[in-house]
Amino acid sequence: MQLLLNNIRQLVTVAAEGKPWKAGPAMREINMIEDGSVLIERDTIQWVGTTRDFHAQLKKEATIVDASDLIALPGFVDAHTHLLFAGSREDEFAMRAEGKTYQQIAEQGGGILKTVSATRLATKRDLKKLASHRLDEMMKHGTTTVEIKSGYGLTEDDEIKMLEAIGELSHDHVMTIAPTFLGAHAIPPEFRKRREAYVDLVCERMLPYIGKKKLAAFCDVFCDTGYFTVEEATRILKQAQSHGMKAKLHADELAASGGSHLAAELGAISADHLEHINQHGIDSLRTAGVVGVLLPGVSFFLNHGYAPARKLIDSGVPVAIASDFNPGSCMSFSMPLMMTIACTQMSMTPEEAITACTLNGAAALGLSNQVGSIEVGKQADIILYNLPQYRHLPYYFGVNHVAKVIKRGTILEF
Ligand code: NIG
Ligand code: FE
Repeated sequence: MQLLLNNIRQLVTVAAEGKPWKAGPAMREINMIEDGSVLIERDTIQWVGTTRDFHAQLKKEATIVDASDLIALPGFVDAHTHLLFAGSREDEFAMRAEGKTYQQIAEQGGGILKTVSATRLATKRDLKKLASHRLDEMMKHGTTTVEIKSGYGLTEDDEIKMLEAIGELSHDHVMTIAPTFLGAHAIPPEFRKRREAYVDLVCERMLPYIGKKKLAAFCDVFCDTGYFTVEEATRILKQAQSHGMKAKLHADELAASGGSHLAAELGAISADHLEHINQHGIDSLRTAGVVGVLLPGVSFFLNHGYAPARKLIDSGVPVAIASDFNPGSCMSFSMPLMMTIACTQMSMTPEEAITACTLNGAAALGLSNQVGSIEVGKQADIILYNLPQYRHLPYYFGVNHVAKVIKRGTILEF
């Protein structure tokens, strides 16, 4: 089956020519082709160039889409989400509007633990149903690859329930899904006075089982003031690595607590959040080649300050942008909205934001050889937008301009 996208007004390829990510000034090179064409054969991109130069052999039954009023970008890669959860936390949203902070709410029994209670009560089937609907909506907003974390179970059974739900969703749903184990998201209430016993449980029971059953590609730890210490995170992530998982970290979100330095030391694939990263942390990430995943929606929603995106990019750290979609700190999965916030609040250029949401997001999941750019040989995940030119994507906000979603070479019908 062939699909030809023809006369694309602006074709933003983000071509990387074999490189896993772009860093520094290269983040601005989005490799845009005016009046472009893309030929897709089954689920793979076969040809990319200008419509004028198109020369591949077309089969009789090929589908041809005239995209002269549309622009095309790679499907977004949202490399950090907590989208599998039950319940909601609009009460906390209202409390923050009256001046309470995220940490104060957590200390009063709200926050992550509130979602843990609701998620423990939900069955795997309930969770899958909720998540499947969210995945549909994300695709309608242009996301074609997503990472999903566990971390709202915090018992052996409930963490496994979450990871199994994620695994089943990746078979049943057209979205490409990367599963992450986040058993160290918070100390569960029943372990409040014996946190070491919880870390033992994660290391000695959960990780070996998850490794054996291959339920997660990554292991993440919320390493921050009030959550897990650098020592605890080190123990958990080393153990995870020995069971075949790659390390990720929620680092330096609430304070400069050493998370990014640890990510570099462990050779983590990404260090995420970074609102409070210092120069030492930035230098460590750059030297170790760790992707910095920034979450503009969290800073916007919690009103707690932004990660130093300019410093990170100018220092040569490969920067990705993700939504962090979750019920507490970001109730949005719109990647174009994340780009707008990155441009208006974090001094990123539209081109840097595009690279951060596509190729560099893929790098944060070790998937940039398959997705994240429109290049020959890659999976055909392409979004067509009803816009005159690509800068309109972050220039608008709160408006969805997706015209067509092409996932693995198929035009999706919603
Ligand atoms: O990435 N920082 C830790 N975890 C999430 C928030 C989860 C929640 O509040 O439910 C985050 O912001
Ligand atoms: Fe998170």
